[in-house]
Amino acid sequence: MGSIIFLYTLFSLLISFISFFLLRTTTAHFRRRHRRLPPGNFGLPFVGETLQLISAYKTENPEPFIDDRVSKFGTLFTTHVFGEPTVFSADPELNRFILQNEGKLFVSSYPGSISNLLGRHSLLLMRGSLHKRMHSLTMSFANSSIIKDHLLVDIDRLVRLIMESWTGRVLLLDEAKKITFHLTVKQLMSFDPCEWTQKLMKEYMLVIEGFFSVPLRIFSPTYRRAIQARTKVAEALSLVVRERRSESERGERKNDMLGALLDEDGNGGGFSDEEIVDFLLALLVAGYDTTSTIMTLAVKFLTETPLALSHLKEEHDAIRARRGETEALMWEDYKSMPFTQCVVNETLRMANIISGVFRRTIADVNMKGYTIPKGWKVFASLRAVHLNQDYFKDARSFNPWRWQMNNTPGATSSVNVFTPFGGGPRRCPGYELARVELSVFLHHIVTRFSWVAAEQDKLVYFPTTRTQKRYPIIVQRRALSRPCKRLEAK
Ligand code: HEM
Repeated sequence: MGSIIFLYTLFSLLISFISFFLLRTTTAHFRRRHRRLPPGNFGLPFVGETLQLISAYKTENPEPFIDDRVSKFGTLFTTHVFGEPTVFSADPELNRFILQNEGKLFVSSYPGSISNLLGRHSLLLMRGSLHKRMHSLTMSFANSSIIKDHLLVDIDRLVRLIMESWTGRVLLLDEAKKITFHLTVKQLMSFDPCEWTQKLMKEYMLVIEGFFSVPLRIFSPTYRRAIQARTKVAEALSLVVRERRSESERGERKNDMLGALLDEDGNGGGFSDEEIVDFLLALLVAGYDTTSTIMTLAVKFLTETPLALSHLKEEHDAIRARRGETEALMWEDYKSMPFTQCVVNETLRMANIISGVFRRTIADVNMKGYTIPKGWKVFASLRAVHLNQDYFKDARSFNPWRWQMNNTPGATSSVNVFTPFGGGPRRCPGYELARVELSVFLHHIVTRFSWVAAEQDKLVYFPTTRTQKRYPIIVQRRALSRPCKRLEAK
């Protein structure tokens, strides 16, 4: 085994060496033949500036890597990270250009570990007309009228169900993950929390862990475990798909995402089991980690900003006063939470769960007088814009009041500078759902509990934005909310 690894390492080094020098030569050739590349630095042989990027994002400073280069080279710069030359944009207009030209000049591009684990039929990796069709099918299952008609009830019930068990010390991120996982499973396949969903969640979490590992089984036990877990999750989902297909053939139809995918008469239909499984798995991935992290970080920011927390409590206590202690939230309640929406925006702006999006050019692309060669990676940084003082005054402080009416940041700019859900054809189809989930979560946490942070927990930004200790808090039930009748899953 040792000698195989040695040979493998030697081989990889050789390939990296050749690639690096090929890159240098082709880049020099490109510079001679064409117009300029954006300014920047390729860093060290083989690794480029990858190590600087990783160590920068492991600190509490959200944007050291980009800040440093923007001040040297401007908002469009070239670097070399994760084995490839990459152009970074920290400019809202260029970001918009990149997002809007999806499929024309750029295509989405994910790291190998993520695309292998997602499966080739996932929405995130689809292109062209199939992508368009599936994107709008996904939207039709997460838009406001679906949320209003039936998802809101599920969200409200699940949030209360999970919070029912909270006493003493609670690891907030883990609890938020339970909520978003079970909610997504319900939305996709109509399952309420049960032993089967618990087991699925355990395997599924191993898949997620593999996303940021080296996508080589031989080197990374995390990746190996993730691949095995993916097989188990796919088998479990295949079984459900097969059963539901037979039900559908007998004329039975459930009003969920899987129902739509199996529906021969509607927009869905005609998909193989494998395609449906990949599609479901990608939706689980897209909605679960992002929304649970944003829930956790909203609570962290509020804990550290007591005035905002008390303002939020007032808003939600008023709703409870109208609804009584146990009645479920209604759509009109959600629509009467103006300060909550400011907190949601500000959390999305400060936390930037998806810090930016990777694309690959499919032609030579001209931007701001520079030319980016065909086949290059481009990273549109959403976070760099959200944390830029030019667009958001005192950009690195949590200030939900900045979003109050007549005070909207970026409103005077010709380009929308606030894009936490991306834009263009790949704009997040779950943007409304995520906002509602976060608002309902905040409603129940502030009306049912008071809490303090159990210990210091640092925010870090690599490989994803999260707190290091999953944000432990000590909770205490508020007098207003004596534990209500136990909520049973329907
Ligand atoms: C706070 C929570 C969320 C944030 C910040 C977020 C952010 C984003 C962003 C920035 C993209 C664009 C990626 C790109 O352009 O390459 C995206 C795509 C996507 N999101 Fe979300 N998202 C969130 C929650 C959700 C939820 C709840 C769902 C569930 C339906 C969801 C489903 C998706 C899907 C399926 C895509 C891929 C779209 C495509 O490639 O066409 N997201 N999300």
